[in-house]
Amino acid sequence: MKISLSPQPLAKLKADLAVAVIDPDGELLDIDDSVLGKALAGAAKAFKRGKYQRELLLHFGDGVPVKALLVFSSSLEKVYELRESVKIFAARSLGHAADFGFSRLAFLLNGRLGVDYVGAVTEGYVLGDYRFDKYLKDKTKRSVSVSLVCPSSSRRKAEGELMRSRIVSEEVNRARDLVNEPGDKIYPKTLAAVAKKIASSGKLGLTIVSGAAALARQGYSGLVAVGKGSIYPPCLIVLRYRPAKKSKRHLALVGKGITFDTGGISIKPSEGMWSMKGDMAGGAAVIAAMAAIAKLEPKTAVTGIVAAAENFPGPDAQRPGDIIVAKNGKSIMVDNTDAEGRLVLTDALARAGEEKATHIVDAATLTGAIVRTLGTSVAGIMGNDPALIRSVIDSGASQGEAYWELPLIEEYREMLKNPYADLNNIGGKLAGAITAGLFLQEFVPEGAKWAHLDIAGPFILEKKWKYFPEGATGFGVKTFVALAESM
Ligand code: BES
Ligand code: ZN
Ligand code: ZN
Repeated sequence: MKISLSPQPLAKLKADLAVAVIDPDGELLDIDDSVLGKALAGAAKAFKRGKYQRELLLHFGDGVPVKALLVFSSSLEKVYELRESVKIFAARSLGHAADFGFSRLAFLLNGRLGVDYVGAVTEGYVLGDYRFDKYLKDKTKRSVSVSLVCPSSSRRKAEGELMRSRIVSEEVNRARDLVNEPGDKIYPKTLAAVAKKIASSGKLGLTIVSGAAALARQGYSGLVAVGKGSIYPPCLIVLRYRPAKKSKRHLALVGKGITFDTGGISIKPSEGMWSMKGDMAGGAAVIAAMAAIAKLEPKTAVTGIVAAAENFPGPDAQRPGDIIVAKNGKSIMVDNTDAEGRLVLTDALARAGEEKATHIVDAATLTGAIVRTLGTSVAGIMGNDPALIRSVIDSGASQGEAYWELPLIEEYREMLKNPYADLNNIGGKLAGAITAGLFLQEFVPEGAKWAHLDIAGPFILEKKWKYFPEGATGFGVKTFVALAESM
């Protein structure tokens, strides 16, 4: 999709469809007395009188260089804040454009604060235009171009916003592709190949520890154990970004990369199992965020670590009752082979320590319990450092990704007791998301600040939501990038 800036006054604007948002403070839009301006003024009045719900589509006659005008009223969209609503409006305008066969769109941001929304509009278009249609015989998507109309006085800022948002949004779409692809296309080796490709084109260092033998030699026993049942060998992927000037803080982004989770010998019920092709959504978010970070060059060192394996039953699969010794020396009894994410994450967390990270944030589709607790619009967050948790929540909020904190209370640790090993890999029937977090906490390297994001709710959608059609959302990418920038 082509997105460009245009300093055109409304009277000179040429487009198939002009899109505008009327906000109560008049910050996005500057209404003049051109044909378009008059139509906008009329729309504003009609919205005030309550004549229309949220949006209005007007078609102009011959002689007007704009064929149609789509007007949204932000005050009638109460569910989301303005920035998020603007993204939704941009995405929705694509639907109208498709309905009427319009291909040249112009989004009006000529008001006082319009330039502040260039990033949001860009994101709405890039994310809203995404379809995973590569396996469909008939592709319905048509190509459109968008110009963002804002004053030339703010051109510099607008260019920066557009560039950043485009990079991040395209990486969100990369993560969506990785999650949407079936498990026979994305398995540990092909996931590592994506990381390799990113490293070769950008400014990232790369290490891949691939295969059970190499992993076992280095003590990564979680990956070895979980990967045993699969024909695809597991691997550990490490991507390193280092800023020009050495930074004191070092952020590790850690991702669960289970490329398909059948549950293993503790096999899952068949209904909905297909969605476990996306059990590497945390890993995909890490890889995509690292690609964006390489392009945006924040001031902090960032290392991305993905523990990739496929969880399958088979003659060599791990069994319930097996005991593994994690890299930090703690033994774990595998009570349930479906609680595999936390096993591979012990290795990725250990690696974050070896890489000398000061701050660690992991993202994982870790528990069904978090989905029952928070649904699909909010991810869970837990950790050992309130300031880091706050930064992650704030970074997410600035991007339209919501987190809610759960308490890692000491007294639930006893649910992870096991007579045969230092830890059981599952808790009891209650507080499943929290006991998973408490389990991970046992493997956080000494002295590191840590936050855990359980993204099992929002990583995939069964029906459309905001600017997303059904399918993968790329949840976490935007939070990761914003967090790296904020540090
Ligand atoms: N990948 C699943 C968690 C999951 C469930 C992600 C639903 C997305 C949607 C994870 O590996 C798992 O199976 N967890 C178990 C843990 C249980 C055995 C303690 C679960 O949540 O049921
Ligand atoms: Zn599982
Ligand atoms: Zn899983």
